[in-house]
Amino acid sequence: MKKVKQAIVVGNWKMNPRTLAEAIDCAKKIARNIPKKSPKVILAVPAPFIKDIHKAVKLPIAMQRISTEEEGAYTGDVSAPQGMSAGATYTLIGHSEDRARGATHDIVSKQVETALTLKLPFILCVGESARDKDGTYLETVNEQLHSALKKLAPRHLSLLTIAYEPVWAIGKDATKVATSAECLEVVISIRRFLSDVFGAKKTEGVAILYGGSVSPETAKMFVKEGGVQGLLVGRESLKPKHFVHIINEVAQV
Ligand code: 13P
Repeated sequence: MKKVKQAIVVGNWKMNPRTLAEAIDCAKKIARNIPKKSPKVILAVPAPFIKDIHKAVKLPIAMQRISTEEEGAYTGDVSAPQGMSAGATYTLIGHSEDRARGATHDIVSKQVETALTLKLPFILCVGESARDKDGTYLETVNEQLHSALKKLAPRHLSLLTIAYEPVWAIGKDATKVATSAECLEVVISIRRFLSDVFGAKKTEGVAILYGGSVSPETAKMFVKEGGVQGLLVGRESLKPKHFVHIINEVAQV
C-alpha cells in the first residue's frame, strides 16, 4: 500500500444544524472557498441531509454511523445501503459519542464488518476517556482497534482510516486541549498496532486523523507535529470561515 498522499479533513457536524436550509448553506459556503491545492475534504452530515447536500456540493459525504444490519425491523436505525443510495461514500464508525450511548466493542466490530461487506470506506474512531500516569490509555486504544478490526483482511486496508479522538479533548466542555506530543504518542502506538497485525509496508497508506477541539489555531500543529495525516473537526466545521481556515492550514503543511 502506498504512503498517504493526500491529507484528509473531515467535518463532523454531529446533530447540527437544525434545518436542511442551514445545512445546505453551510456546505455551499465551505465548498465554494476550498483552495485549489486542498486536502480531501469530507462532510459527515446528519442522515436526513445526505441526499440534498450530496446534490448541492461536490464534496464526498460521510454517514455519522451505520446500523450493524443492512435492512430489517430496526426502528430508528439507518443502514449503510440507505446512506450510500442517498450519496454517502464514507461512514464514521465508533465515535465516542456513539460508544457513550451504547455502541459496544461488539456493535462497533459488526458495523465494521458491514462496511467491509459493502466496500464502504470508513473512519474508525478510537480514543480514551481519561489519561493516567501508567499509560493504560494506550491499552484502551489498542483494545478498541483489536476488537474493531478483527475481521479486517489485508485486502480491506484501502477502506480504512483511523481517527484518534481523546474523549477528554472533545467538545466545548473538554477538560483541556490536547498537545501535539499527546497526540503523537498515541499515533505511534496505533501505527505499531497496524504494523504488528498487517505489516508496516501494507499499512503505510492508512491515514490517521486527530480529532478533539481542533481550531484554526491548532490545526497546523497537529498535522506538523502530531504525526497525523489529517483532522476530524467537530464544532468548528459548522463555521464555514473557520473550517476553511483549518483546511488552508492543513494544505500548507
Ligand atoms: P469538537 O471538534 O467539537 O471537539 O468535536 C470533535 C469530534 O468529536 C469530531 O468527531
